[in-house]
Amino acid sequence: MYRILKNQRLVPNLYHLVVEVPEVARSAKPGQFVMVIPDEKGERIPLNLADFDKDKGTIELVYLVVGVSTRKLSRIKPGSSLAGVAGPLGRPTEIGRKETVFLVGGCFGPAGLYPIARELKLAGNKVIFLTEARDHAYVYWEDKIKAFADHYFNLFRRDCFDSGKTLETAFNMVKLKYPELSRVLVMGCDYLLHKISTLTSSSGIKIEVYLTPIMVDGTGMCGACRVTVSGKTYFACVDGPVFDGHGLDWVEYFARRQAFLPQEQLALGKLEILPPEQKKT
Ligand SMILES: Cc1cc2nc3c(=O)[nH]c(=O)nc-3n(C[C@H](O)[C@H](O)[C@H](O)COP(=O)(O)OP(=O)(O)OC[C@H]3O[C@@H](n4cnc5c(N)ncnc54)[C@H](O)[C@@H]3O)c2cc1C
Ligand code: FES
Repeated sequence: MYRILKNQRLVPNLYHLVVEVPEVARSAKPGQFVMVIPDEKGERIPLNLADFDKDKGTIELVYLVVGVSTRKLSRIKPGSSLAGVAGPLGRPTEIGRKETVFLVGGCFGPAGLYPIARELKLAGNKVIFLTEARDHAYVYWEDKIKAFADHYFNLFRRDCFDSGKTLETAFNMVKLKYPELSRVLVMGCDYLLHKISTLTSSSGIKIEVYLTPIMVDGTGMCGACRVTVSGKTYFACVDGPVFDGHGLDWVEYFARRQAFLPQEQLALGKLEILPPEQKKT
């Protein structure tokens, strides 16, 4: 059992979980993830490592409440335990030197990108960081991230309507200001990953997207997380989760992501619970 030290709402629908898992904290690297089992009857769900402390033996996760498992997770009180945590899994993010890297995070993305930004900055890279959010109420860890970013800015979806600012304008602004830009890392919802990959397809800049396919075992055995990139088959849990956004077969990816939607909806109906903030007091 893995003791929970913190399980707190960060912004609407996003929770920050701190758990004691010394064996994971000891070997964790930025860009990796863990499989979490909320309770004895629960399924395994993959979550990115948002931070880890080798000395304290803790890992930090930030999760969006979407279905049964994340709803169950949001109800667990600090002091109690998770039924299972396996990891660290996946390939760590490559950390180069003296590169200019643009990190774009939405939803849970800024959290998972945070340790990557820190590692990139400490290795001598220039870090440009964009948080994409509905509005300022959905922005978190701004000061933490700024500590390891040469240039930090937010893009609010509301502004996209009000002032015409878009992801494309943000990308073009960064490209103009930093013509040496060589890598873009994107983490968050599928829309964000797909949008950035599409609008940069002719830019000649490498777009690395952190995919979130359905995962079952997380060890390359079940095939659930299969993706096709530049005509080759990969298993995201062992070969990823980060892949070239320009080479990904997005049609297949979206179709496989939705394969269990009817069952997920059924399970949610049976659970008959609401996230704590939606419960009547
Ligand atoms: C490598 C990786 C890292 C991830 N990191 C984070 C993170 O840091 N924070 C975060 O909020 N979410 C993250 N996710 C997505 C998270 O795993 C799903 O939101 C979660 O499994 C949903 O479980 P649920 O039972 O609450 O919802 P469900 O009812 O099971 O599903 C709701 C939606 O989540 C998707 N989903 C369901 N099961 C999985 C699964 N096992 N793997 C991936 N997607 C699934 C479905 O396509 C569906 O659209 C990550 C996914 C992967 C693969
Ligand atoms: S989750 Fe089973 S092969 Fe990746």
